[in-house]
Amino acid sequence: MGWDLLLTDCRAATMAEAEGYGVIEDAAIAIEGDRIVWIGKRADLPKQGAKETVSLGGRWVTPGLIDCHTHLVFGGERASEFEQRLKGASYEEIAKGGGGIVSTVRATRAASEAELLVAAKARLDTLMTEGLTTIEIKSGYGLNVENERKQLRVARALGPACAVTVKTTCLAAHALPPEFAGKPDAYIDLVCNEILPAIAADDLADAVDAFSERIAFTAEQTARVFDKAKSLGLPVKLHADQLSDMGGAALAARYGALSADHIEYSSEQGIAAMGEAGTVAVVLPGAFFFLREKQLPPLDALRKHGVRIAISTDCNPGSSPALSLLLMMNMACTLFRMTPAETLAGVTRHAAAALGLGATHGQLRAGYVADLVIWNIGQPAELSYWLGGNPCAGVIQAGRWRSRSLAS
Ligand code: NIG
Ligand code: FE
Repeated sequence: MGWDLLLTDCRAATMAEAEGYGVIEDAAIAIEGDRIVWIGKRADLPKQGAKETVSLGGRWVTPGLIDCHTHLVFGGERASEFEQRLKGASYEEIAKGGGGIVSTVRATRAASEAELLVAAKARLDTLMTEGLTTIEIKSGYGLNVENERKQLRVARALGPACAVTVKTTCLAAHALPPEFAGKPDAYIDLVCNEILPAIAADDLADAVDAFSERIAFTAEQTARVFDKAKSLGLPVKLHADQLSDMGGAALAARYGALSADHIEYSSEQGIAAMGEAGTVAVVLPGAFFFLREKQLPPLDALRKHGVRIAISTDCNPGSSPALSLLLMMNMACTLFRMTPAETLAGVTRHAAAALGLGATHGQLRAGYVADLVIWNIGQPAELSYWLGGNPCAGVIQAGRWRSRSLAS
């Protein structure tokens, strides 16, 4: 009977090599079920039929894009805090004054599950128009058992609702809820003794994250959360060293974290530890831009110590209301001086690794899940070149067409 789908006359940026795009010119890609079963030069294609053969007219194909760090499910918005910041207030000052994350906690607790789903689905639909096939979604605006569960249930429901792969992360240690003011250790007790066990019992999270920062939790409190996560069999991630050097990179490495994210203020020692541990660095240019930060993430040290670098939107209402992963790629180039090839790896191969999906997602390779994007571009660097616009011409999600407009 043959393959289910055969794509021919395309140029593949496979991202299957440690550096560069892994280009195959005049390529063909065969898909069976949800997997890529053959990829190579069209001239080398084995003689085998396919139920559907589609000529892509020389278009480029990349792995599906992966947004590996988002806070997509939340109530309300915080445009008035944006206005306050434009008048001179800082993100930390707003947080200390009772706004910031805690104001989104109020709105998220007040919202019904159905309301949260509608709002998050609209954001996800926008991200998906640019070829997003996998997204990570964190909790962290519930901050009690009932509302963390509510957020994560909505995140889980978005996968089937939108035909996208969703990985969920419990970020109960995101901020101190108002009812625990002055009692951070008591809140960490609640996280460890009640929230995480309840989440794990219902299989609502694939990983556990924490915000280690002056305005959030100390390294010791974070370590308690990580110990609990480990005992529940859940991998960890960390919002590390975003506003100050809290030793977050080294802490994440010590726990074998999947990723340490933000890391603007991380020391070289911490970066070296991440390299040793294989912890992925997730850089978030949207938050850097939107908070008008000055401290650049330590790109040279990351490269020197062989740390894989992923890029994400950090989509959230406070520090990065970003709904375009392609724009984040541009910002990673213009603000962080990453190369276009590094940024494409950052939203494919390395983003997959940041989610523990490196053996199945993020590359065009036989045996990998057939998540593919077809682009109207002349070269892959165009993906991080345009400011706005959308060259996506088609998406295949797990072997099935999700969208296509291939008229030439
Ligand atoms: O990744 N740093 C902490 N958490 C988010 C911001 C969340 C918010 O401000 O609502 C971040 O930047
Ligand atoms: Fe974040």
